Amino acid sequence: MAHQRYHHLHLHLLLLLLLRVLTLSPFFLQLSKLVAAENNNLIAIVCHVAEVPESCIQCLKSDPHSEIADEVGIAIILMNCLTDHIDALENNMSKIAAVSKDKSTVNLFQNCSKDYATARKYLNSAITSLKSGKYDAAETSVTLALKFDTDCHFKIVSFKKKISHKIAFEIKLFEDLCQAANRIIERL
Ligand SMILES: *[C@@H]1O[C@H](CO)[C@@H](O)[C@H](O)[C@H]1NC(C)=O
Ligand SMILES: *[C@@H]1O[C@H](CO)[C@@H](O)[C@H](O)[C@H]1NC(C)=O
Repeated sequence: MAHQRYHHLHLHLLLLLLLRVLTLSPFFLQLSKLVAAENNNLIAIVCHVAEVPESCIQCLKSDPHSEIADEVGIAIILMNCLTDHIDALENNMSKIAAVSKDKSTVNLFQNCSKDYATARKYLNSAITSLKSGKYDAAETSVTLALKFDTDCHFKIVSFKKKISHKIAFEIKLFEDLCQAANRIIERL
């Protein structure tokens, strides 16, 4: 028994050594360059569906892990960008509500802020689903997050409420990134 355990330990050390040699070898460097090139391709494919692909690419490249991440990793990086955007939008909507004068406008932007808070919850569950390999559930959650965003978007447009170009762009970007996220989740 003791002998066997020693044997296992020995094998383990050998593997570690092998790994060490490999990671230092030009072969491994070549391989990691290959992975990075492949990921540039993947990023281009995923961001292709976005109307503003540059913003999608920028989101992914802002995380250095995107160079070596697999498809699930890329999806999670996109989800992290989405949560940043949605937190900003929730905040923007409640600020507009706070400075608005008439009651119906206050009401509308308060509702929008709630929509984004709900969308944030769906994004959280999408991330949890992605991490546990439940890709269909993740896609459903992203779609629901997008639904709450478009509910707000629709209210703003149909009641002809004025929002700054910056916030209008933020909303569009959020919708773009949701599409890109679902595009990659569909591939999993
Ligand atoms: C929206 O909210 C975010 C986060 O609080 C803030 O950084 C950004 O400047 C706001 N955008 C506008 C146009 O007010
Ligand atoms: C805001 O939400 C409340 C409660 O759901 C609803 O009664 C009201 O009509 C909504 N207002 C607007 C402007 O969307």
